Amino acid sequence: MASFIGESIEPWQNEQDMQTDENIQKFFKIRISTIIPNRPITFDLYIMINGRYVHYLRGGESITAEKIASLERADVFYVPESQRSDYKQYVFQRLNEDELAVQTKAQILRESSLTLAEEIFENPDIERALNDSKELVANFIDFMEAHPEGMAHLISLSSHDFYTYNHSLDVGIYSLGLGQVVGYAKEDLLELGRGALFHDIGKRNVAVEIICKKGPLNDAEWAQMQKHPQYGLRILTEHNCSEAMKACCFEHHESFLGNGYPQQLSGPEIHPMARIVAITDTYDALTTKRSYNQPMSPSAALEFMSTKLAPRYDRDLLKAMQSVLFKMKEAS
Ligand SMILES: [Fe+2]
Ligand SMILES: [Fe+2]
Repeated sequence: MASFIGESIEPWQNEQDMQTDENIQKFFKIRISTIIPNRPITFDLYIMINGRYVHYLRGGESITAEKIASLERADVFYVPESQRSDYKQYVFQRLNEDELAVQTKAQILRESSLTLAEEIFENPDIERALNDSKELVANFIDFMEAHPEGMAHLISLSSHDFYTYNHSLDVGIYSLGLGQVVGYAKEDLLELGRGALFHDIGKRNVAVEIICKKGPLNDAEWAQMQKHPQYGLRILTEHNCSEAMKACCFEHHESFLGNGYPQQLSGPEIHPMARIVAITDTYDALTTKRSYNQPMSPSAALEFMSTKLAPRYDRDLLKAMQSVLFKMKEAS
């Protein structure tokens, strides 16, 4: 058994399962915390052992809360691609259960979205990721509408780790929170959320050694990294994305002072949605744990942005960010 999974997994697979199931079908990742305890699942669940997919639970079987808790270390499980809509439906139903606490729903929504956010960067099929993101962001907007306090819970669940997909999802969530506070209509929130989710899509084209480097970048690496807005714009243009989404991607490193990149736009020239992403992106970067520096606390990050970095941002939006984060404080 793979050591990273630990001793608590006892899949009831047999040799035949391994021979027949793996490699014949494609799989997508899910988090075990999105599974409802003691209720039959409506899809098949697999784990990866030594690089092979192994049947862990079949549709119709259930799992106890204790077992789920013990499996959380393993984190990632797999569902056959052919059962993707069954899994989506399963999560959707859970999000609409009245008796479930808002905090639990927020967690399920975030956890079930993380794997899609991961696919945005790992899956070569960008068209599909762009399509899937519509439903994902719409789910977040519906959740925010149904539960006014839900955004605060979502924000307080931010992982503060450095993986691009976590970062993208968190920037997406913060941006929706900020868009909501400044009164964006639903259609605009959808574009904003998707733009924020894809703001760093251009990093797909930056060398992985640079993206994952455990330490500050040298000049050449930095120059390469700074090209990600252009790379991203190219990708989103190829896929006919909206001007708003393209702006979130291409303009999120611009500064109100005119000293950002890549176009050195200033103040009002920067698209309003890109101004939001500029704030949420920096905030997430400052509060994220990296191997070479300590993360700032939410209040320290906001204080830093509101003093030292303030001239870079839209002042009204920076103020609005305070109230988004204040809600988070109330929830936690
Ligand atoms: Fe970026
Ligand atoms: Fe970013």
